Amino acid sequence: MAAPNLTLSLLAVAILTAAACAAATNITAILSAFPEYSEFNALLTQTKLADEINSREPVTVCALPNGALSSFTGKYPLSVVKNILALHVLLDYFDAPKLHKISDGSVLSTTLYQTTGNAGGSLGFVNITDLRGGKVGFGSGVPGSALDSTFTKSVKQFPYNLSVIEVSKPIAPSAILTAPAPSASDVNITALLEKAGCKTFASLIVSSGVLKVYQSAVGKGLTIFAPNDEAFKAADGPDLSKLSNAEVVSILQYHALAMYAPIGTLKQTKGKITTLATNGAGKYDLGVKTAGDSVSLDTGVDSSRIASTVLDSTPLCIFTVDNLLLPVELFGKAPAPAPGPAPEKAPSPAPVADAPTPESADAPSPVLSPPAPPTSSPDGAPSEGPTADAENSTTNNAAGGLEAPAVFKMVLTVPVLELRRMLIVRLTRSLAKMFELEMPMDDPTDKDAEARGDIKDDPDSTELYFEVGDKLDFEAASEIALALKF
Ligand SMILES: *[C@@H]1O[C@H](CO)[C@@H](O)[C@H](O)[C@H]1NC(C)=O
Ligand SMILES: *[C@@H]1O[C@H](CO)[C@@H](O)[C@H](O)[C@H]1NC(C)=O
Ligand SMILES: *[C@@H]1O[C@H](CO)[C@@H](O)[C@H](O)[C@H]1NC(C)=O
Ligand SMILES: *[C@@H]1O[C@H](CO)[C@@H](O)[C@H](O)[C@H]1NC(C)=O
Ligand SMILES: *[C@@H]1O[C@H](CO)[C@@H](O)[C@H](O)[C@H]1NC(C)=O
Repeated sequence: MAAPNLTLSLLAVAILTAAACAAATNITAILSAFPEYSEFNALLTQTKLADEINSREPVTVCALPNGALSSFTGKYPLSVVKNILALHVLLDYFDAPKLHKISDGSVLSTTLYQTTGNAGGSLGFVNITDLRGGKVGFGSGVPGSALDSTFTKSVKQFPYNLSVIEVSKPIAPSAILTAPAPSASDVNITALLEKAGCKTFASLIVSSGVLKVYQSAVGKGLTIFAPNDEAFKAADGPDLSKLSNAEVVSILQYHALAMYAPIGTLKQTKGKITTLATNGAGKYDLGVKTAGDSVSLDTGVDSSRIASTVLDSTPLCIFTVDNLLLPVELFGKAPAPAPGPAPEKAPSPAPVADAPTPESADAPSPVLSPPAPPTSSPDGAPSEGPTADAENSTTNNAAGGLEAPAVFKMVLTVPVLELRRMLIVRLTRSLAKMFELEMPMDDPTDKDAEARGDIKDDPDSTELYFEVGDKLDFEAASEIALALKF
């Protein structure tokens, strides 16, 4: 029944998604076995570049021995040091054999610095050239740059995901060193927010005085999640004028973290994070969910996607978010908004790794996202499940003739759990029946799934777990994909 091309395209999607997943390696742990790189390692942690490295593959880290960076760390702010270090993280896999076999003797490699969007011309690239006498030289990709840093040795390799090599000296083009690095206290937060389409939020933090709280926190690290102006116009949003001043202050403080948390760090975050509003264990905290390249924040009442980065400059990060973050402490009694099986919210605030709701799952994969808005819940689907429907579908779908009911499209979500590298397809029981899937459904022996909170008590929905690379499961998955016209 499965059309081969769809099987292929689903596989391709799965492979792509897996590639976007976090690497299972931990650069901090790897380098800690080599005391000669302890300074370099400490800087990767301090600048949060370690999180970026851990969330990418393939990647090559050009480590510098202790002392090699001292001329920079003493002289330049951390934001500039971070840019230099980012140039030492190549987004490709290079080990000794590959370095000595560079075709045509020279190659430009993209670096993490290129991904900041601040690199003009070839500044975000590193030129690797096989020099005479078996030496391999490294230099800035800017034409005419010296290739005066050389490959000294291999440190640790995980083919072909992560390679750690040592180079003799820093690659530090003058354009990075001379770039103006505004100190965080000079940044005009409100001006940046206004420019990013967050005028309402900007005026609220000024009128409430919360801007001063932000400003006093910024020196030690601050991350702001600013809802855009549309978020304040949302019909189902809260009426802030009905809240007390103290409550408004709490909400605004809830939109910030007392730490520098760039997107790579948020992606690596597991569990809850405390906000500026946190006033006791487990109070006013936020859950972070990552799926592919998308990160969303979960308040327990609602969830909001991180839409864009306004500023990422150590120690200040500013993001825009699609919705207001409504703390459960103030809005917990509100009727549960659209998505997610309702019963799950009630019992305990404990489970950190919530089951992927249609909402969060919707964001990650543009390729697979169902077109319909993520508003379905299994109990809102009275029409699903008649056997006649199932029979008709089974006979028709090979011809592609099945009109997948909208509710199926909405319920089918394909999030990827980063660590487990699994493709999860959640669908209704009747749909599973329709395709005669012999998958373990709500398998009570799957302790891991229980621990993740993936298993629901909902009798009308089930989740199928597809190990990435498992051939049989993909055939089943591709049939579902076929029916839903992916
Ligand atoms: C990586 O390893 C370091 C040191 O062993 C540890 O502190 C850190 O939590 C680890 N990070 C992750 C994401 O596991
Ligand atoms: C690398 O630098 C050398 C020396 O400046 C230059 O001749 C070579 O063309 C550069 N390689 C690339 C790929 O740009
Ligand atoms: C490299 O990454 C792949 C896919 O993400 C993973 O399956 C494999 O175990 C990794 N290899 C190593 C040595 O970490
Ligand atoms: C910051 O920008 C806002 C709005 O653009 C402006 O009103 C304010 O005066 C600026 N603050 C400083 C200290 O320059
Ligand atoms: C299934 O097909 C039969 C005949 O082909 C038709 O009478 C029936 O209405 C169909 N059922 C559904 C649910 O579409």
